[in-house]
Amino acid sequence: MADADARAVAAELAWLARVIEARITHFLKEPGAPFRPEAPPAPTPGSALTALVAEGPLDPQARLVLALALAPQVQPALLDPFFLRNSAIDRGFTEFGGTRPETGGFQPNVDTALFLIAGTDPAARIAAMAHLGPDRPLRRAGLSIAGGALTLPPYRAMALLQGRAPEPDFSADFPAKRLTTALDWEDLVLPDAVMHRIGHILGWLEHEGRILRDWGLGRSLGQGFRALFHGPPGTGKTLTAALLGKRTGQPVYRIDLSMVVSKYIGETEKNLAGVFDQAAERGWILFFDEADALFGTRSSGGTANDRHANQEVAYLLQRIEDCPGLVILATNLRGNIDEAFFRRFHAAILFPRPDARQRERLWRGVLGGAVPLEGDVDFGEMARAHDLSGGSINNVVRHAAVTALRRGAARIGARDLGDAVAQELQKEGRTP
Ligand SMILES: Nc1ncnc2c1ncn2[C@@H]1O[C@H](COP(=O)(O)OP(=O)(O)OP(=O)(O)O)[C@@H](O)[C@H]1O
Ligand SMILES: [Mg+2]
Repeated sequence: MADADARAVAAELAWLARVIEARITHFLKEPGAPFRPEAPPAPTPGSALTALVAEGPLDPQARLVLALALAPQVQPALLDPFFLRNSAIDRGFTEFGGTRPETGGFQPNVDTALFLIAGTDPAARIAAMAHLGPDRPLRRAGLSIAGGALTLPPYRAMALLQGRAPEPDFSADFPAKRLTTALDWEDLVLPDAVMHRIGHILGWLEHEGRILRDWGLGRSLGQGFRALFHGPPGTGKTLTAALLGKRTGQPVYRIDLSMVVSKYIGETEKNLAGVFDQAAERGWILFFDEADALFGTRSSGGTANDRHANQEVAYLLQRIEDCPGLVILATNLRGNIDEAFFRRFHAAILFPRPDARQRERLWRGVLGGAVPLEGDVDFGEMARAHDLSGGSINNVVRHAAVTALRRGAARIGARDLGDAVAQELQKEGRTP
């Protein structure tokens, strides 16, 4: 519905331009007279903006403020009237608020919004401030007034312009990456007891609304679900996180902890805040891989650097606790995590190394499809003989496939697999 979205935003901004013009004229010519702003444009059916206005709900004044915050990104020249100079003092009008950078367009702030709604009348301005309070529709719509500047996050602006927000790019500013998998729920091989506990997380995701809202348990239980996945490498922790998202249709974002703890004070918080804010708003599942890096730094005292790292970790843990959605932390080590933190998880699930029966299913899962095999390949035999994780089995298969093709064979044989197993065990520091 991108067309309707663009039309709705264009109409809204054209309206904003007319109100700015009228407001400034009124201010310059007849400040004592009542000011009656033009009514906002009629709804554009099927547009994200109209949906947002209805959902807010946003009244005409709130709409004006939203349009004002949107303008710098979409049509900055529209705010040029605010550059008007006050000839008495040879500078811009203080009444308009905002900042006037050397280059680029006028940056509206809270004062600009109040001027637009209420002119210079103190009582009316105080009343208008209510629009900007926390938990008001405008703030829920994403409007930020941090530091007094009136801004709308770019992904929010994009959502209004195109009907949906873009997927963020991985960068230092956004230290999270979308996690997906080509595998399906049926491919997951785990003991029944573990599957049952994972099913419980799925159950939470499916019934959360009913439990917290319909049954009114939100007040006592609080929002969010925090799960700890622990266990040896290659046992399916990352895969399970990806599958939970695939099953529920919620994007899963993996946070790269190595990019998170930044050497610039305050940067970490800012970068993470973007991830957590979007996760809360857009219903993402957050996945912290190798979370032991987090707990390792939780020492007391130490150097200034250590203390700084501790502070960042404390912030991160706090955001994890406050997150209204599902947060999964994965680690190979259970011992490192202090008990106080462990108790805050709603579920802690051990991913064990697969037993022989599960390994046979894993072998079959990887090789049972269209892969050409020699007659001497015996899944049951391989499963019994080699204690390998699912991740290791993948490595073995990759190695064996290359070996077979390199020796000119068209099929993978038992010997290719045997050699590859030996390689893998050696790599893992074990002897065949
Ligand atoms: N239990 C499992 N069921 C099915 N496939 C598995 C399982 N465990 C591992 N695999 C296979 O191995 C791959 C790697 O597993 P995954 O990355 O989920 O392991 P992990 O537990 O996250 O390991 P690490 O601790 O090293 O991060 C998976 O993508 C999948 O192909
Ligand atoms: Mg993993």
